[in-house]
Amino acid sequence: MDLENQYRGWIKQIKDALDEWSSISISGDYEYVVIAGMGGSGIVGDYLDRLSRVYGGLPVVVVKDNYVPAYIGEKSLVIAVSYSGNTHETISFVREAGKRVRNMVIVTSDGVLADIAREKNYVLVTIPSGFVPRASLPYMLYRILGVLDSSGYSIVSRGVAEESLRFLESEHNGIRSNARRVAEYIDKYKRLLILAGHSPYEPLLVRGKNEFNENSKIPVKIECAPEWMHNDIVGWEKPYSTDYAVLSVVDPDDSIGLKLVEYMESVYRELGIPVYRIELKGSSFLDKLMYGSLLLGYSSIELAYKRRINPLVTTSIAKYKEIASRIYG
Ligand code: PA5
Repeated sequence: MDLENQYRGWIKQIKDALDEWSSISISGDYEYVVIAGMGGSGIVGDYLDRLSRVYGGLPVVVVKDNYVPAYIGEKSLVIAVSYSGNTHETISFVREAGKRVRNMVIVTSDGVLADIAREKNYVLVTIPSGFVPRASLPYMLYRILGVLDSSGYSIVSRGVAEESLRFLESEHNGIRSNARRVAEYIDKYKRLLILAGHSPYEPLLVRGKNEFNENSKIPVKIECAPEWMHNDIVGWEKPYSTDYAVLSVVDPDDSIGLKLVEYMESVYRELGIPVYRIELKGSSFLDKLMYGSLLLGYSSIELAYKRRINPLVTTSIAKYKEIASRIYG
């Protein structure tokens, strides 16, 4: 299936995850959640971290490497996410973490991780195969939200998740056409792209960066308020170049976030750097996160089309994965 159709399937992915919302629950007495994963799978951890800060639930620690934090033990609810199930760092993490915890949750479509889960009797959440990892974001995210909700560790309730499905369904066509305008803007300048935004939407900026990296094949820089006001801002006093284009991402209902980004935009504009603003829609944080994710995803695909690049293929990642075992030994 081409990448655009994989993203078009997001509504179905959320519906499927909602159908399976309570199908798996876990027992145990946990104090925090640890999500391990890389790239398009690891971003699920960033989203869960932010969702738990906004909605409540156990704190979430995200691990995007093979190192198992020293504090991991029986009080950690470990969830390893790897779409392929064959990512070196995540497999290595699972093997090491397995020495410290009796049980964990493995979210994967197949591969070595599915084998480990069966062998060790870990909780296995199976993701449909045939997609690329980044296009499976909704399914991976909503399945984990369902497992947590039905295990007494809710971050997002089923009602909030259902509402986000209705919202995304109603916005889908508008998002698709907005994406064309975003891609036109980026392609017009052909400069290093800066994704600028505000807290608590850092993970959305990371997701957008990853999407433009992987689908459009361009490097991207992230700048996020209010931390921006404490370092990046000084870098703009004497930049070597102003050859950048800014895509700002704003929640218009967040009055402080909006003012902070307006301030950032004024600094960029003073330097002659163009700014294009995306305003997030929705009535909940989850709505807005999913709205922004789909808009940035479609924009990155549209930009790939403009550049006559296949958005689906990530040759460099495949190349890296071939040599990863040699690097890690
Ligand atoms: O989106 C992608 O294709 C990548 O970022 C992958 O997610 C990343 O390489 C990790 O692979 P996986 O998700 O299969 O663990």
